[in-house]
Amino acid sequence: MSKKFYITTPIYYVNARPHIGHAYTTIACDAVARRQRMLGADTFFLTGTDEHGQKIERAAQAAGKTPQEFTDEVSAQFRALWKRMGITNDDFIRTTEDRHKRRVQELFRRLRDNGHIYKGTYTGQYCVFDELYVDAVGPGAPCPECGRPTETVKEENYFFKLSSFQNRLLQLYNERPDFIRPETRRNEVMSFVRSGLRDLSISRSTFSWGIPVPDDPKHVIYVWLDALANYITAIGYGSSHEGAREAFQKYWPADLQMIGKEIVRFHCVYWPAFLMAAELPVPKSIVAHGWLLFEESKMSKSRGNIVRTETILDVLGADALRYFLLREVVFGQDGSFSFDALVQRYNADLANGLGNLASRTLTMITRYFRGEVPYPSAVVSQRAGDGAVAESARRVIAECSVLFDQYQFSRALEVAWSLVAAVDKYIVDNEPWALGEKQDEESRSRLATILYTSAEALRIVTALAHPVIPDATARIWAQLGLGDIRKFPLSELKWGQLQLGAKLGNVEPVFPRADKSAAERMQSMEEQQRSGSSTIEAQPETTLPIAAPTAAAVPVEKPPASVPDGKISIDDFAKIELRVGQVRTAEKVKGADKLLRLEVDLGTEVRQVVAGIAESYAPESLIGRKVVIVANLAPRKLRGLESNGMIVAASPEGGKAVLAGFLEDVPVGTRLK
Ligand code: MSP
Repeated sequence: MSKKFYITTPIYYVNARPHIGHAYTTIACDAVARRQRMLGADTFFLTGTDEHGQKIERAAQAAGKTPQEFTDEVSAQFRALWKRMGITNDDFIRTTEDRHKRRVQELFRRLRDNGHIYKGTYTGQYCVFDELYVDAVGPGAPCPECGRPTETVKEENYFFKLSSFQNRLLQLYNERPDFIRPETRRNEVMSFVRSGLRDLSISRSTFSWGIPVPDDPKHVIYVWLDALANYITAIGYGSSHEGAREAFQKYWPADLQMIGKEIVRFHCVYWPAFLMAAELPVPKSIVAHGWLLFEESKMSKSRGNIVRTETILDVLGADALRYFLLREVVFGQDGSFSFDALVQRYNADLANGLGNLASRTLTMITRYFRGEVPYPSAVVSQRAGDGAVAESARRVIAECSVLFDQYQFSRALEVAWSLVAAVDKYIVDNEPWALGEKQDEESRSRLATILYTSAEALRIVTALAHPVIPDATARIWAQLGLGDIRKFPLSELKWGQLQLGAKLGNVEPVFPRADKSAAERMQSMEEQQRSGSSTIEAQPETTLPIAAPTAAAVPVEKPPASVPDGKISIDDFAKIELRVGQVRTAEKVKGADKLLRLEVDLGTEVRQVVAGIAESYAPESLIGRKVVIVANLAPRKLRGLESNGMIVAASPEGGKAVLAGFLEDVPVGTRLK
């Protein structure tokens, strides 16, 4: 029976559209899944969306939609994008699906029946952005994970006896060093657990967007218990259906759960504890990668520094993005994304590297041997260089496999491309084009050997690279006359398997060179996207509107006839989304006396807002202050900085601006209407 391999991505929050940070994890998992399939493993690859909880409820509210409408929409965007990218997931789970809800309730019952749940009251802080209980800090304190202000929560909850799992967890980390990788993350988790675990609240009772607790529907199940459970509910845990139960028996425990480094605690502490409490095996390995940075900070919607995947797909295609992310970023560490680096890598390694090797080798075989793989000739025309290429291919196959299995994608690709470089040099040194002009037997047989050697090396790189650049390699494979690359048993890859005399398929280039403007084009596509379809131009600093916006700042439709001149209708007013925000950071904008750059927390996200209030407020005085933000104003650039929203202030003629505020305390994110 073939080995099974179950691999999962985190399920993505649907508060925002997918960006290349999400694509990064999905691509890495897809490459692993494709490789496992080529190695003959019965592979199951799961991804999906995380759709419950307060953060999503608020995001839906901000979008003026019901949570269900909102999550349907964004989840569909994730699914469509993965499809467009050719991601080979076997299932896509949504936490709002009935199958998931029922099975999560089953898990909850099991934890309760096993005596791991009790009722209590949680009084403390909660970070809605991370959906994280933040114990041991006071009201207003920032979240230790993301720095956003926490909210005070006091509610009756169900608690999970996490504290009683401390020793079993430490034992797990000690006995199974591969449970958490890389080592740095393992050390962090171990010291967190050693410092003591508190029991964990696993229900919420002050909002309703979640899965009801069985027999006590006033409570909804804590979103992280709900979300983590997807890894087992999707493959049939808790189902009464025989087929589903069998799938669960077959695939669980997961072989690899890939995550970003910010969610290590949930996956390496809470998740194994929940599983132990339910008497289920824990996953074999959890691997955390680093962040994709853009303009020096983590790419995320709240920072407004995201890059959409679609832009790259439109200009360079999915293979280019896949290759770039896995080659450029050292897996496990943070890595920067830039359009220039993407285009440079694409041209150097794909267009001029593999693409060029494929087209020159296959074109010469077509021209000089009527498109049939030539026979390497007798010993008499062999040279040392031929054997050296074969030798280097053997080494590359061995090293690449080890590196791929350790998820060192960047090193694995580097090694594979060393073969591309070796063959390129071999071709240049041997000048097959010069031999092609000659008809004598010695020249013909020398030419046959050179082209055979090049084509065989090309076949090997193509097979090794297939999991990373599936589309181009499938085409090169077909051009080599080898049929469907997905059926090739990778574990049997070795030098000398190219079929002699095989007829090549149609030869056509796989990676056209990207011209100089490609990076700029992608950049401007992104900028256009960020500024939406708004026609509002950045205004000079002196006329910067800092006071409450009216119809002048937010484009409104012509008022209906029943509204007297100069007035707006209630519907028009409703278009302006005013929200309570809290200033997290404030600083002067270099070279602009009137401007401050603020980071303002809106509960679901932190926005950068550039405001003309520097003459009225010292930046330090604003930190922690609650303000009113026009949250749906189209972004615009001021002094090169993107402003996402506007801060509301009274601006008396000739006087200093005075920020609008509140006498009573109001939760961050609350809408003004
Ligand atoms: N919904 C939770 C996960 C629940 S899993 C039971 C969540 N969602 S998320 O959408 O915020 O992020 C999920 C994952 O997306 C991250 O762990 C990471 O794998 C990936 N990334 C999102 N932004 C990223 C970067 N800027 N860089 C790299 N990966 C990023 O957390």
